[in-house]
Amino acid sequence: GIFLNKDYEECLEFATSLAQECGQIILEASKARYSKTNKIYEKSGNPSDLVTETDRIVEELIKTKINSKFPEHRFIGEEMTAAGHQYELTNDPTWIVDPIDGTTNFVHGFPFVAVCIGLTFNKEPVVGVVFNPFLNQLFTARKGNGAYLNFNTKLPLSSPNPPLNLPPSLSQCLIVTEFGSDRSPSTIGKKVQSVHNMISKPGNVTWSKKNAGLVHGIRNLGSAALDIMQIAKGEADMFWEIGCWEWDVTAAIIILREAGGLMVNGNGPNEGPVDILGRKYLAVRAGSPCAGDETSEQSQLRLVRELWNVVEEIDCPR
Ligand code: IPD
Ligand code: CA
Ligand code: CA
Ligand code: CA
Repeated sequence: GIFLNKDYEECLEFATSLAQECGQIILEASKARYSKTNKIYEKSGNPSDLVTETDRIVEELIKTKINSKFPEHRFIGEEMTAAGHQYELTNDPTWIVDPIDGTTNFVHGFPFVAVCIGLTFNKEPVVGVVFNPFLNQLFTARKGNGAYLNFNTKLPLSSPNPPLNLPPSLSQCLIVTEFGSDRSPSTIGKKVQSVHNMISKPGNVTWSKKNAGLVHGIRNLGSAALDIMQIAKGEADMFWEIGCWEWDVTAAIIILREAGGLMVNGNGPNEGPVDILGRKYLAVRAGSPCAGDETSEQSQLRLVRELWNVVEEIDCPR
């Protein structure tokens, strides 16, 4: 059937309390992170691609609760797909879930870990919850209703009317990016090259004030969803990652959009809406236009094109 506003509201309430419940489990499990009760495994023998018992327990809990509350909805979860489960994204209501985004952080106790519960309808994210139990930051949004931090704080944070100006060019941006778990030389080499392109001006080898970096800085939190939340809050300007997956971004995308941010594909030149399944993502925060005759969206797109210009094209098949 058709999704109504009240359905979105019900789904968001459900997803919010489910995420809070999972957050408790993650916090508890974190205390035992080096004990036998929380086994750590390497996925397909890749030492930089970890999964723990807790990832699986949390995903199973979310899946079970969704199935009993909304039996007609579909479900896609990271650990279930890792187990070889085939799926396609249809127009049906589909929950896309990452039980722990930032598993490496979780294993080390680095407090940027989130449970991500997103819902798509007609293949578009419509409801999203991203919850970091370590910092007690709960990000929520449903389509058409704005994005919130801990229920009461509207995003972006700097949201007087109009919000903070967008930076006039890439060189004044704070960029958030990730290296991901694919460390094959060609992939990682291109990512490192992209970061090199972002952080230093081409052609100059000797440091001087004049060539001190193309962007203001580069950050890397270890959780793509929490990276995107920094953009939704307006505390960083752009996010770029090639190689993450739909469960990393689905909940984050609706929160970002409801906070006035833009998500497009990580490589140019298609300025159309992001391909959720495309594994290439580029986000820009909300803000007032940075040039007098532009709209905010035109300014955002101008920054997008500037970043597209400096990042390498990276092959990323599903
Ligand atoms: C990963 C994290 C990481 C990003 C990877 C993701 P996981 O998710 O978001 O920051 O670089 O691409 O796969 O495996 O911790 O859920
Ligand atoms: Ca993973
Ligand atoms: Ca993830
Ligand atoms: Ca995960």
